[in-house]
Amino acid sequence: NDHAVCDLAAIAAAVNPLRLANDLAALAKIGAREDGGVARLALDNHDTSARLWLVEQAKELGAEASVDAIGNVFLDLPGSNPELAPVVTGSHIDSQPAGGKYDGSLGVLAGLEAFRALKEAGFTPRHPLSLVSWTNEEGARFSPGTSGSAVFCNVRSLEETRLIKDSEGMTMGHALDTCLAEMDAANVPRRPLATPMHSFIELHIEQGPILEREGASVGVVEGIQGVSWFDVTVTGSANHAGTTPRALRRDALEGACAVATALREAARDGEDRVRFTIGKFVVSPGSVNTIPDRVTFSIDLRHPEAATLKGIETAFNEITQQIWAGCQVTLTSLSRIDPVDFPNTLTEQMDAAACELGITAPRLVSGAFHDAIHLANHCPTAMLFVPCRNGLSHHPDEHIELGDAVVGTQLLAASLARLSR
Ligand code: GLV
Ligand code: MN
Ligand code: MN
Ligand code: MN
Repeated sequence: NDHAVCDLAAIAAAVNPLRLANDLAALAKIGAREDGGVARLALDNHDTSARLWLVEQAKELGAEASVDAIGNVFLDLPGSNPELAPVVTGSHIDSQPAGGKYDGSLGVLAGLEAFRALKEAGFTPRHPLSLVSWTNEEGARFSPGTSGSAVFCNVRSLEETRLIKDSEGMTMGHALDTCLAEMDAANVPRRPLATPMHSFIELHIEQGPILEREGASVGVVEGIQGVSWFDVTVTGSANHAGTTPRALRRDALEGACAVATALREAARDGEDRVRFTIGKFVVSPGSVNTIPDRVTFSIDLRHPEAATLKGIETAFNEITQQIWAGCQVTLTSLSRIDPVDFPNTLTEQMDAAACELGITAPRLVSGAFHDAIHLANHCPTAMLFVPCRNGLSHHPDEHIELGDAVVGTQLLAASLARLSR
């Protein structure tokens, strides 16, 4: 029962802005786009190179690198009591095809810099510390995303995840085996899935407007809103556009417009808390002078409260059981994740660390989902957000201020110290 030295101010002072900036620049070069963005799709050559780059950093840090069966990369530092479960931080290093330098990457690199700062400040954790980079958070190449965290936490099976195909028909299993072979060649040992964790903290860019508006450098995330994805198919019948009178028409687009409007109305609230998006809308056969016989569209529905989310989903079911402009409608659930409330025990540790360091860190709820949404089922989990310019992400112009990233990293390091001491 040694009393570890835990001077949070010394730990925060050991966070090195130049080192963090250099790491951000080095990682952004792997898969860099000419427009300043990053294209590092899950398990492509750049993603594999970025993993190997991360493993190189482990050597300098004196950490042990390892990889699991879904390709999650871990960097482990020992604690003074090896019996204890590790305090874990991390995020993802895959990107959108026209992505930015910070979505995911900032969380991994902030974790790396936090570990260095803890070491340099002479802090000895009681719990082991782990940094993790989760595989395929984005889902841009292999959909759905958050594969690494979902498989690690037993939310999805490794077998079904390996069968997902990219647009070229390559399975995720094949891409994973190619990547793992490179990790083997670099002597990175395998580790099991679902290993116990004391806690998980993910730092991420906010991808929204709240912190920037409040002028805060970092925020403590209280939870993640629930998300439900659907496919809607509207079936009519095709016929000649010029000759078919109204009474004989079953125009799938007419039905789709009507049902889409009804669904949107059902998802309206007085408070602007429901998020309802139709992001894909496909009309078939797609000919200027043919009545459409089929329309498919997507729905992304989100709300921070489980009961409200469920209520809207029930309304969606009722609406799509009706006939719209003579057309049949089917509603298929593609995926749903209930809202997650992060435990107070963890968020209060981060509030306390912020208070001790004199950092203003407002509370907020995440509108986007993250790997942390699955980790919340595995161990006490919470997140820190750093503002990004104009709330912009999934875009080559995604931008953060280094000063904010430094404050976020300081609060991360201090929180990890409080949890692991
Ligand atoms: C993923 O980041 C999402 O929230 O859609
Ligand atoms: Mn992300
Ligand atoms: Mn993203
Ligand atoms: Mn995301």
